[in-house]
Amino acid sequence: MKRTEKASIEAGAVDGGTVLGREHGPAPSRVPSSGRPPAPGDGSGVEGDVAVLELRDVSKSFGATAALRGVSLRVRPATFHALVGENGAGKSTIVKLIAGIHRADQGSMYVNGRDAANPSPAMVRSLGIGIVHQDSSVLPGFSVERNFSLGQEPTTQLGWINFGKAREELAARAKRFGVEFDPKMPAAELSTGNRKVLEILKVLDERQKLLVLDEPTASFTTEETRQLLRILAELKASGVAVLYVTHRLEEIEGIVDSVTVLRDGTNVGSLGHDEATPHRVISLMVGRDLGEMYPRGSGEGRAEVLYTAAGINRRGSFDQVDFEVHRGEIVAFVGLTGHGSFEVARSIAGLQPPDRGTCTMAGERVRIRSLRDARGAGIGFLSESRAENILRVRSVRENLALAALENWSRFGFVDSQREGAQVRHLIELLSIRCRSASAKARSLSGGNQQKLALGRWLAVDSQLMVLLDPTAGVDVGARADIYRLLREFADRGRGVLIATSDLAEAMGIADTIYAFYKGKRVGMFPREQRQQADVLAAITGHREGEEPA
Ligand SMILES: Nc1ncnc2c1ncn2[C@@H]1O[C@H](COP(=O)(O)OP(=O)(O)OP(=O)(O)O)[C@@H](O)[C@H]1O
Ligand SMILES: [Mg+2]
Repeated sequence: MKRTEKASIEAGAVDGGTVLGREHGPAPSRVPSSGRPPAPGDGSGVEGDVAVLELRDVSKSFGATAALRGVSLRVRPATFHALVGENGAGKSTIVKLIAGIHRADQGSMYVNGRDAANPSPAMVRSLGIGIVHQDSSVLPGFSVERNFSLGQEPTTQLGWINFGKAREELAARAKRFGVEFDPKMPAAELSTGNRKVLEILKVLDERQKLLVLDEPTASFTTEETRQLLRILAELKASGVAVLYVTHRLEEIEGIVDSVTVLRDGTNVGSLGHDEATPHRVISLMVGRDLGEMYPRGSGEGRAEVLYTAAGINRRGSFDQVDFEVHRGEIVAFVGLTGHGSFEVARSIAGLQPPDRGTCTMAGERVRIRSLRDARGAGIGFLSESRAENILRVRSVRENLALAALENWSRFGFVDSQREGAQVRHLIELLSIRCRSASAKARSLSGGNQQKLALGRWLAVDSQLMVLLDPTAGVDVGARADIYRLLREFADRGRGVLIATSDLAEAMGIADTIYAFYKGKRVGMFPREQRQQADVLAAITGHREGEEPA
């Protein structure tokens, strides 16, 4: 993928770590960078070139849904192959076919040139294929080390797993990732991010031929993503091929060799590194031209302050934090996990409220101690947990209507005609893809659920919207829709505050970025005068961000 100005990979420059973008980009690893001889046929398309994995003309339906229709795909040895596509395009179905979880209705699969259609899980392991699925496979009731050794081959002569050895291996791989795990800890106590790290550690092994990772970084911070990609680059250099599903195109641009794009269950493009410009990939993915991913605001009337926090403090979470949100402005909070960015955003919405300090909304002092207070003050809140934002078993219509009940009811009666029109309007405005307004919220794809959650707050007509990681796991088309909606919301004289773990997102969408480190606000970065490397330096404690007057 060609580099863009938003290269999140510059990240590495700060702490002297591996700089993926430089080491491997911009046109990386046509030839593997290690001393290992290039695998046969590593130059693309040469006769006799044997793919590590090849799918030929694979189809798979679930009832009436054709998830895959005649998909072919080749992963060459020691290459990084990205599999991209919108929510529901069929990516995870491919991963599950490779894992032997689903059986193909039609088509064939080859591993190193040998027929390997519909393999058993044991066969998958013995072929040297390590798979991390999109949904967590961590068993919360088991310890970290039990989870780590689960499903591994027996290693002692008696056919038992050697737990001492497994523990050593766990420690070594965790160290390589830059994390520490207490092996005895119940997995239930791990954060979502760390559960994913644990699953990934199980497959990070030079002996693998192929790693298949299905959206491994959806719940990762920038730092965790960087660590993972650094290790994957090392594995690639030692001969391991990687098939990598992601929605975040920026994160792979320094390492990717080829890209397969799925749309509605078909392969709509297999691109080499040089052809795979973000623009090309995205328009193949969504089948339309998205225009600008991150729309900029008109900037009009942004002088008027909507919300202020002065010297707010919460013991153990954040300290002496000041910031403002203007009308018409999108503000982003960035920081590593636990350093205050998410904590401050939650406190604004009444969860974990501050102990000290002053907040004002539209010039009036406010004391917000609960979500209900926040709502009363005109503050909408979208938590990072999708399940909390929508009523999953209710219909799309009910989700949109219940939130706005007060606005749409006259004398306590719901005006159903008006409701119907409003619901239709919101579905269209948000481009929510659903069979009908009576489809259950949980039947929507992830990105559409998130749009529905946003729609609930648009229906309530709040003044300030506070959102935590609003686009995690959301496909690129839906993300573009969400950014457009937030921008339109701000342009109507409202304010938006996003806490995000995706630095590229903050760089793209925010008019002002506030950086947090160790519970303190360490920098304010208006759009005109910021470099991603500076923001990253601020959140990793390497440099105080500038404080423009
Ligand atoms: N077990 C299943 N039963 C019925 N339908 C399914 C099943 N698994 C997947 N599907 C359908 O198959 C299609 C492809 O789903 P898949 O999970 O492969 O998409 P994806 O590309 O991984 O999407 P996402 O980015 O949201 O993870 C979707 O329409 C989905 O609803
Ligand atoms: Mg998936």
